[in-house]
Order: sequence, then C-alpha cells, then structure tokens
Amino acid sequence: MNNLIKAINELKKEKNAIILGHYYQKGEIQDIADYVGDSLALAQLAAKTEADIIVMCGVHFMGETAKVLCPDKKVLVPDMEAGCSLADSCPADQFAQFVKEHPGHTVISYVNTTAAVKAVTDVVVTSTNARQIVESFPKDEKIIFGPDRNLGNYINSVTNRNMLLWDGACHVHEQFSVEKIVELKTQHPEALVLTHPECTEDVIELSDFVGSTSEIIDYATKSVADRFIICTEMGVFFELQQKNPEKKFYSVGHRQFCPNMKKVTLERVEEALEKMQPYVEVPQDVLEAAAKPLKRMLELAAK
Ligand code: 13P
Ligand code: SF4
Repeated sequence: MNNLIKAINELKKEKNAIILGHYYQKGEIQDIADYVGDSLALAQLAAKTEADIIVMCGVHFMGETAKVLCPDKKVLVPDMEAGCSLADSCPADQFAQFVKEHPGHTVISYVNTTAAVKAVTDVVVTSTNARQIVESFPKDEKIIFGPDRNLGNYINSVTNRNMLLWDGACHVHEQFSVEKIVELKTQHPEALVLTHPECTEDVIELSDFVGSTSEIIDYATKSVADRFIICTEMGVFFELQQKNPEKKFYSVGHRQFCPNMKKVTLERVEEALEKMQPYVEVPQDVLEAAAKPLKRMLELAAK
C-alpha cells in the first residue's frame, strides 16, 4: 500500500494532477486526496484549480461536473462504472419531455444528474445550497425540481412552496429504516439524529438536524453533544471520527453503503494516473448548455 501511495504521489507531481475526493470515498482515498468535500466543494475546487489533470474520486456525475466547469482539463474518473442511482432515476430524454410538458416553469436540478439533464436546467443546486437557491426565487415562481423527490419534498416543506417534483430517489438514502433509528434512540436517548435530505420524510421527521454531508460533519464537530446517529452514507464516519475522536457516532446499519462510491480504489487511482484514462467526455453542445446552470449555481452560492 505504501508503494502505491508513493507511486500516486509521484505521478501526481509528474502530470500536475490534483486528486479530489468525496466524503463517501473509502478512508484510504480520503487520505491521499488533495481535497475532500461535498458535491458543492468539489465543484468549486474543480472550477478554480490550476492543475492540468483532475482525478475525481467520486461517482460519474461528479467527474462530468468537473469537466463541464473545466472543459480544457482532462478529468480522470478511476472507475467509469461508478454511477449514481439517483442520477440514473432521471433519464435526460424523459426529463426534457417533462420540462416541455410544463412550460413557464423554472427548472432547478440537483447536482446528482447527468450533464444532459443539466443541459435542460436553469440552475443547479447541491444539498448545501438547495434551500438558499430556491429561496432566491419569488414565492410565486413556478418551479420544476428534479430528480430527488425526497430533497424536493424537504425543500418544499421548509420553504413553504409547492415545486413540481420529478419522481427520483437515491437507493441508499431511501432505505434507512425508521425502526432502526428508533431502536438506536432508545439505546442512546441523548444521541442527536443527523440526516441527509435525500432520506425519506419519516426519517427526516425523527431528525434533530438535516443537512448535506459537509453540514452534518460541521454540525457534529461544533455541537456540545457527543453522541450522534448518522443518517447518510457511511463514508462520512472517516471525517467525523478524525475531527472528533472523542465523540461517538452510531451507524443505522449495512444499508448505509453506496457501492458506486466504493468502486474507487488506490489501485484504480494509480492506474488512471499512469494511463491517463478513463477520462470524462461530454459532447460540446451538452457541455456548453450544462455549463450555464452550473455557473449560475456557483454565482448564487457565493452570495
Ligand atoms: P453531498 O452534496 O451532501 O455531498 O451529497 C452527495 C450525494 O451523493 C449524496 O448522496
Ligand atoms: Fe448517488 Fe446515492 Fe451514492 Fe449519493 S449515495 S452517490 S445519491 S447512489
């Protein structure tokens, strides 16, 4: 493993590459990444890097987002098969048809979508800025929100809106069980429940805090509480534990595992840097159309 890490670091220097990793990556990937973050941070970092090569350790839409924001750079994705069930729940042709059937709506898409879906979108959001961006529109704005119905329902409820929702979901977050959370709460009544907004409404209702991966990590780190039940993908335990070695984090079970995120391995990262592939390709017309709503998000998020 040490040889592998050494080889990755040498290749990185030689190729002027940067390694970006999501909080759901394996610990060993988070360890070798130059930056680890949530979807918003990864997009922001990709947009401003001066490296020639970006190695995106995450799922495919994250690589596509980086490519759209940096069309002149090579964006390596160590495993081309690392997809996302939520992005898959929104085929671009069907979403474009849905948009066509509802004229007069502003289209807001979650970042967990393909570039082709972003290409028919007015503004992209992540779980960190979805509420802020939705609230930047007048209360009576007609909005289509896709593809996550759980995030959409949550934003509808906290902003008191009635956005039209696409019926998609994340197969990981949707499966957390209320029974398991209640059982953990019974065993550890003092523990706070921290939840990602991709979870279902019944899980959100049981929660003390709802936020993106980085917001969950920040909340737990700043909190005076020292026990937490974590309702998002298990990769966050790595950063949570590193930042808070004295605090205790409880898992809601084996369903807390995104198989796509775990496809990235040190071997794959080394091989990608060595061979300069696989890399993300986005057709020029899609790339140009997808860049607009992504840049709009980055501008709105900076306000
Ligand atoms: P974050 O934007 O909170 O990092 O979430 C990304 C994701 O894929 C959640 O399942
Ligand atoms: Fe996609 Fe869900 Fe995995 Fe996040 S956890 S990358 S939304 S499948």
